[in-house]
Amino acid sequence: MRAFLAIEVPASARLLIHDLIENESRKDLPVKWVAFENLHITLKFLGEIDERKKAKITPSITAACHRHKPFTVVLGGLGCFPGPRNPRVLWVGMKQGGSAVCALAADLDEELTRFGFEKEGRFHPHLTIGRVKQPCSVDSTIAQEIQTDAFEVCSVVLFRSTLKPTGPIYDELERFAL
Ligand code: 2AM
Repeated sequence: MRAFLAIEVPASARLLIHDLIENESRKDLPVKWVAFENLHITLKFLGEIDERKKAKITPSITAACHRHKPFTVVLGGLGCFPGPRNPRVLWVGMKQGGSAVCALAADLDEELTRFGFEKEGRFHPHLTIGRVKQPCSVDSTIAQEIQTDAFEVCSVVLFRSTLKPTGPIYDELERFAL
């Protein structure tokens, strides 16, 4: 199965982001927008793992998560990777909680290298809202203002991602308390 670790975002914050996505999707940009139910903050993409590997890594993920306290997140600001000249990924950034997310992601990353997972180069905390399919300008999209209410992050979720022609389906496999 294809799996990744992520922070779940409450529906109230996703609704606000989804409103912006709905507006943008009327503009006919060559962008595949993320579905409301799929909006999340990725901590670590694991790729293909089997049940055995999952069972092996679970105690380490539990331990890493226990080393971190729950924290507050405010999502806000828009941007793109790698940059506005050649946008590939559109995202909402973090106004608050960014350093806590980075610390958590770095800890999980470090922990998982013991099981053969590649260490990430750099981690930029973000919530992906769209993937650009063809060169285009997203300047007017990312110039907008957006900011969610604050929410508490108390756990990390291991999701399974099933790729379908209509888009990925994410299922929660395990939840790890902070
Ligand atoms: P991102 O969009 O938040 O940056 C589930 O597929 C999540 O894992 C995606 O939201 C994406 O994170 C991340 N992801 C997917 N494929 C990836 C890959 N090949 N390498 C790194 N991260 C990936």
